[in-house]
Amino acid sequence: MGYTLAIVGCGVMGQALLSAIYNAPKAEESLAEHYPSKIIACNESALSSSSVEKLVKGFGKSPNGIEVEIFTARNVEAVKQSSVVILAVKPYLAEKVMEEIKPEGRGPVLISLAAGVTLSQLTAYFPNSVRVMTNTPAKFGYGTAVVSYAEAVSESNKTRVKELVRHVGTCLELPEKNMDAATALVGSGPAFALLIIESMMEAGLKMGIPLKESRECAIKVLEGTAKMVEITGESPGALKHQVCTPGGTTIAGLCVMEDKGVKSGIIRGIEEAARVATELGQGKKK
Ligand SMILES: NC(=O)c1ccc[n+]([C@@H]2O[C@H](COP(=O)([O-])OP(=O)(O)OC[C@H]3O[C@@H](n4cnc5c(N)ncnc54)[C@H](OP(=O)(O)O)[C@@H]3O)[C@@H](O)[C@H]2O)c1
Repeated sequence: MGYTLAIVGCGVMGQALLSAIYNAPKAEESLAEHYPSKIIACNESALSSSSVEKLVKGFGKSPNGIEVEIFTARNVEAVKQSSVVILAVKPYLAEKVMEEIKPEGRGPVLISLAAGVTLSQLTAYFPNSVRVMTNTPAKFGYGTAVVSYAEAVSESNKTRVKELVRHVGTCLELPEKNMDAATALVGSGPAFALLIIESMMEAGLKMGIPLKESRECAIKVLEGTAKMVEITGESPGALKHQVCTPGGTTIAGLCVMEDKGVKSGIIRGIEEAARVATELGQGKKK
C-alpha cells in the first residue's frame, strides 16, 4: 500500500502534475515505493473541482495503480492523510494556505510550485520543503522542471521528488539562488518561445504564405533547431554561423534583427521577468 499525495490548488499547473504523475509509465520495482497509491486534488471552489473531475474522467487506468479523489475546501483533511503535498496555488495565496495546512512537527514533504516563494518562507511551515519551477508544456509531457531542496530533505525524499516531478518532461536541480531566474527562463519561457513562433508565422503570412502553412513551418523550424542544438552539443552561435552563407540571406536577416535589438530585448525581457518573480515571493504583487 503506497502513500497519499495531496495537490493543494489543482488549476493549470496542479492538473499538469496530476496528469504527469497519474499517467507515468509503470515504475521499476526499486522505484515503485515512490509512487502514491492515492492523489487527492484540492480546490477551494466547486467549479475548479469540476474541471479536475472532467480531466480525470478522460484518463485511462493509471499504470502505477494510482487512484484520484477530489476535495473541495477540505485542504486540512487532505494534508493530514498525505506524505507528500504539492502546493500549486497562486503565489499570493501560498502563505495563507500554508498557515491553514501547516503540520505539527516535521509533517509531509512539501513541493511548492509557487513562483518567487522562497525555501525560507516554505520551511517556516514545512521543514521538508522543495521549491519547483515548471511550465505549461508539462501538460503534454514536454515540460521543464527546476528543483531546489531545503537542507532537511533526505536523500530518499529527494529521489521521491525527482521520481514524481521528472514525468512533466525534464527535471534538473539548481541552487535556490537561481530560482527566480529559472522562474523567468522556465516558467515564463513558453510565452517567450510562443512570441518567436508567432513572429515567424506572421512573417510568413506577410510574405504570402497561408497561415496554416506558416504555422507549421514556424513550429517545425523551432522544434528542429532545438533538437539540433541538443543532439550536436554545439553552441547556438557556431550552428548559426553554419547556416550563414557569406553575403547571403541569413546573415542579412540576422543583421536587421541585431539592429532591432531582438537578442538584447529577449535577454532584458527574461531579466525583467526574474525581477518580478522576486517581488511575487515578497508579496509585493498578486
Ligand atoms: N501557469 C503557469 O504557466 C505557471 C508556470 C510556472 C509556475 N506556476 C506557478 O504555479 C502555481 C499555480 O499557478 P496556476 O497557473 O496553476 O494557477 P491556477 O490555474 O489559478 O490554479 C490555482 C488553483 O488553486 C485553487 N485555489 C485557490 N485558493 C485555494 C485554496 N485556498 N485552497 C485550495 N485551492 C485553492 C484555484 O481554484 P479555486 O480558487 O477555484 O478553488 C485554482 O484551481 C503558481 O504559484 C504559479 O506561480 C505557474
